[in-house]
Amino acid sequence: MAITLTALAGLAFTVANPVPYGSSQSSCDTIYHGYQCQDDISHYWGQYSPYFSVPSDISDAVPHGCEITFAQILSRHGARDPTASKTKSYNGTIQKIHANVKNFTGIYAFLADYEYTLGADQLTTFGQQELVNSGIKYYNRYEQLTNRHAPFVRSSGEARVVESAQNWTQGFHAAKLADRRSGRKDAAYPYPIVVIPETDGENNTLNHGLCNTFENGPDDDIASDAQAKWTAVFIAPIRARLNAALPGANLTTTDTVSLMDLCPFNTVASPNGTVSAFCSLFTEAEWHQYGYYETLNKYYGYSYGNPLGPTQGVGFSNELIARLTSKPVDDESSSNHTLDSDPATFALGRRLYADFSHDNDMTAIFSALGLYNGTGPLPNTTVVEAPQANGYSAAWTVPFAARAYFEKMQCRGQKQELVRVIIDDRVLPLKQCGGDRLGRCTLDAFVDSLGFARSDGDWDQCFVGNYTSSA
Ligand SMILES: *[C@@H]1O[C@H](CO)[C@@H](O)[C@H](O)[C@H]1NC(C)=O
Ligand SMILES: *[C@@H]1O[C@H](CO)[C@@H](O)[C@H](O)[C@H]1NC(C)=O
Ligand SMILES: *[C@@H]1O[C@H](CO)[C@@H](O)[C@H](O)[C@H]1NC(C)=O
Ligand SMILES: *[C@@H]1O[C@H](CO)[C@@H](O)[C@H](O)[C@H]1NC(C)=O
Ligand SMILES: *[C@@H]1O[C@H](CO)[C@@H](O)[C@H](O)[C@H]1NC(C)=O
Ligand SMILES: *[C@@H]1O[C@H](CO)[C@@H](O)[C@H](O)[C@H]1NC(C)=O
Ligand SMILES: *[C@@H]1O[C@H](CO)[C@@H](O)[C@H](O)[C@H]1NC(C)=O
Ligand SMILES: *[C@@H]1O[C@H](CO)[C@@H](O)[C@H](O)[C@H]1NC(C)=O
Ligand SMILES: *[C@@H]1O[C@H](CO)[C@@H](O)[C@H](O)[C@H]1NC(C)=O
Ligand SMILES: *[C@@H]1O[C@H](CO)[C@@H](O)[C@H](O)[C@H]1NC(C)=O
Repeated sequence: MAITLTALAGLAFTVANPVPYGSSQSSCDTIYHGYQCQDDISHYWGQYSPYFSVPSDISDAVPHGCEITFAQILSRHGARDPTASKTKSYNGTIQKIHANVKNFTGIYAFLADYEYTLGADQLTTFGQQELVNSGIKYYNRYEQLTNRHAPFVRSSGEARVVESAQNWTQGFHAAKLADRRSGRKDAAYPYPIVVIPETDGENNTLNHGLCNTFENGPDDDIASDAQAKWTAVFIAPIRARLNAALPGANLTTTDTVSLMDLCPFNTVASPNGTVSAFCSLFTEAEWHQYGYYETLNKYYGYSYGNPLGPTQGVGFSNELIARLTSKPVDDESSSNHTLDSDPATFALGRRLYADFSHDNDMTAIFSALGLYNGTGPLPNTTVVEAPQANGYSAAWTVPFAARAYFEKMQCRGQKQELVRVIIDDRVLPLKQCGGDRLGRCTLDAFVDSLGFARSDGDWDQCFVGNYTSSA
């Protein structure tokens, strides 16, 4: 039986009130559609966009006559403060401006009193709320399973990722307690979370780090080279404008990019996602250029633009195949055989799975699965928008609180289960396995299309050459 849109809307209404997290919720960040504040710019902040529903040519509703039998979510952590090194450098840019600029006028006036107070690395309150919302949305989307089954949860070890996993289970749990059909009970909560450390040498399919050639060899520079080429094109006019408006500032190219970064980071530092004053220093076209700058980083760092990018996602892909087919993991890349052969740390035969990771790792996993494969190499000198890039951009794939759903469904008149992949609410067409007009492939065809992962990608290239830990 299909979960209809009407049923979903009804459930949304019934769970909204009992959830004790509502107060910091702004009206333009919603459980079902994500962040919609000033969407003409905020959907172009690359991986620093807060999650939003990406336009989909194919409806993401459960097709008539079908019942979902399996739902794996792979999620990025929620919005966070800048990383430690970035926060230091952003603060440096602000200190430099304050030391050298005497007169702030017009849209720059706010800078006179702007104090740099962003922290480092941790989820913001807004970011925690995104994951609570994601748990509620997932619960309701898969209500026919979630009212009866608990999710099997794993997280990569960094604090913000583990906290994201916790916040997601909190949202899931709150929705379950509000659901009449679950009996408003949830005895399995708190659900165990298998935390896989990010320490050096750890086989962790939710965090890269083992592949020496990739981590320490020349492949490591491709993304920054690509970004430098693009920066040379788009930043110069922006930098000149800012330096003219802020006499004495003498901003470098890096300072200029930093001031753009401060728009999303100050936005997600606000508990309700109020769009920061930094955002209005730049035009809509400039935000498209910026979004593309971030896309180049992911594409040339962890996707098809990097010879060993897709290989970093092989371990998780093989684990996904194991879960989809209820067969032991067959992988000789980054999976941990000890974890994956123990039902306590890698259960097979479950209906609901939830994994929490990072943008880079998710990018590699999507690529190892052959998703978004088919557009030519992205150019370094001109913007290609997501709709023209096979649906690919950093903002459409790995925003803060990004979520991919891997679904199986049993449909009337169909012997085999069908597989569908939905990334940030956009149903992928899955042409590589003969996807039908609803984006579905048979399980066999889907698994057949994953030859790259099943043969461990180019993992054998990871240990040629002398690239051991130059870092
Ligand atoms: C967010 O909070 C601020 C300060 O509390 C308030 O002024 C603003 O109206 C709120 N914005 C939204 C979209 O709710
Ligand atoms: C500040 O800049 C504005 C506009 O550029 C100018 O009109 C004004 O005289 C300046 N004030 C000072 C104190 O320099
Ligand atoms: C920013 O830098 C100033 C000057 O070095 C320092 O005093 C301040 O603590 C820094 N602020 C943050 C939030 O890091
Ligand atoms: C997210 O989870 C953490 C850890 O359990 C908790 O302290 C925090 O209150 C949660 N955030 C929200 C918005 O519920
Ligand atoms: C694999 O997992 C086990 C159990 O958590 C752990 O003791 C071991 O160190 C891990 N090995 C690697 C190489 O990650
Ligand atoms: C973009 O730059 C990267 C890094 O130098 C390079 O590998 C790639 O081939 C360039 N892309 C195109 C389309 O020229
Ligand atoms: C501006 O900064 C550059 C370094 O980025 C420096 O070489 C130059 O002297 C500075 N100009 C002024 C006027 O401070
Ligand atoms: C960890 O990964 C390496 C590289 O693929 C592999 O040789 C090793 O057996 C793995 N260790 C475990 C515990 O699975
Ligand atoms: C991507 O497409 C190319 C060309 O068709 C193919 O050779 C490659 O194996 C594909 N990559 C993956 C990961 O499926
Ligand atoms: C590998 O590189 C390191 C430092 O980069 C060097 O000390 C070492 O001798 C090299 N090993 C081989 C086998 O070339």
